[in-house]
Amino acid sequence: MNNVIDFINVNRDRDVDELKTLLAIPSVSALPVHASDVRRCAEWCADEMRRIGLQHVRLFETPGNPVVYGDWLGAPGAPTILFYGHYEGQPVDPVELWESPPFEATVRDGEIYARGAADDKGQVFMHMKAVEAHMRQNGRLPVNIRFLLEGEEEVGSVHLDDFIRTHKSELAAQVVVISDSAMFARGVPSICYGLRGLVYCQIDLRGSATDLHSGSFGGAVANPAFVLAQILSQLKDRSGRIRIPGFYEAVRPLQEEERAAWAALPFNEKKYRQDFGVPKLAGETGYTTLERTWARPTVEVNGLLSGFTGEGAKTVLPAVAMAKVSMRLVPDQDPDTIARLFQAYIESITPKTVELKVTRMHGGKPWMTSFDNPYVQAAGRAIEQGFGQKPIFTREGGSIPVVSTFQEELGLPSVLFGVGLPDENAHAPNEKLDLSNFHGGIIASAHLYQEITEVGRTSE
Ligand code: BES
Ligand code: MN
Ligand code: MN
Repeated sequence: MNNVIDFINVNRDRDVDELKTLLAIPSVSALPVHASDVRRCAEWCADEMRRIGLQHVRLFETPGNPVVYGDWLGAPGAPTILFYGHYEGQPVDPVELWESPPFEATVRDGEIYARGAADDKGQVFMHMKAVEAHMRQNGRLPVNIRFLLEGEEEVGSVHLDDFIRTHKSELAAQVVVISDSAMFARGVPSICYGLRGLVYCQIDLRGSATDLHSGSFGGAVANPAFVLAQILSQLKDRSGRIRIPGFYEAVRPLQEEERAAWAALPFNEKKYRQDFGVPKLAGETGYTTLERTWARPTVEVNGLLSGFTGEGAKTVLPAVAMAKVSMRLVPDQDPDTIARLFQAYIESITPKTVELKVTRMHGGKPWMTSFDNPYVQAAGRAIEQGFGQKPIFTREGGSIPVVSTFQEELGLPSVLFGVGLPDENAHAPNEKLDLSNFHGGIIASAHLYQEITEVGRTSE
């Protein structure tokens, strides 16, 4: 292993330069204008996979963006890792709030700033560099590995489930490894054993055929903006509890051991508030901040649109109002069931004065695993070698829809070893990745491949 780690240390700056070229490709999956950039990024990843010595590298076409695949299966008898990551990112708007252009990766104070730096190109590239170090130094890897890179994670992974179902033999493995989450805090590496699921809906209301003069019609015709506000205000009660009937039925209660373990984590509520500019924290009564984000479901308004929002004043009764509403789910809530309950509830509280349309968008199932599996323990040892510290075990509030598919369709456990930080601005302006975590992550990944081999040996 020493020669592999030497290679990683010697190439520290070169790795950052190469990461910059990956981050320069504006692969934004949500925006059709970037479709060709998304494809170019897929091709860049495929080229890089070939260069580092992976085999059978190819793009698999889907009805959406291509899946990039490559493998190295030259370690008979050793386990096979299925590495998953995504090569696309979120839109960059509001672009004027970026301190450096989102697709010109810039290093400031040991952090590299660009869209995708943390979520997820930087973390994918970390594994490519770990593979490269093994291959260059030893001509082989200690384990078998298959890379599966997706181009639609940020738009709900709509075609990936089908791809997995129809390519089971190409994806045969013993464990999934994913680096697409955050460490608990700077200097506190972690392994994530739970993710929330997601149901995302759009509510459209129409109160009249066109906008109306608010003097001539106000008071006689319903205002959809106002009705929408009334609907949204009925989603949660004052204690932060969601009012959709049946919503909590399948929620797995928090275990006392889990609560105790989280209460002992070095979490500073005041610093959290200050870091994110939050005047006072809010949430469901009876739960701590970590419990609220990791183990309790929530409903959030992601966007609102209605009426006149330009400068000055315009006396108008808007014809329409729209809200984007999403729900984060926890085990064992089922997205289809929750979507139905949501729709039924919205219908039941919408007055006849407006026309209602609820459109369901993407989503994903919640996921949770036990962390006493041998692969998780192997990852723990690898992380300790990369970061000089044993990881702690966390859950996360975010969603990676495919993780439950790996479990259900391929029967595979996932190990989530992320090196982002909670304040690295994923999905926001000035996304960044700490370069010492990037470097530590390469070393940890290189060790992970070795450690997972040992798991295979001892269980044979
Ligand atoms: N990498 C994130 C998921 C994540 C966020 C994991 C925070 C752990 C902590 C992923 O790219 C993401 O943003 N997922 C979306 C999924 C959605 C579009 C289906 C999310 O959580 O909103
Ligand atoms: Mn991600
Ligand atoms: Mn994301």
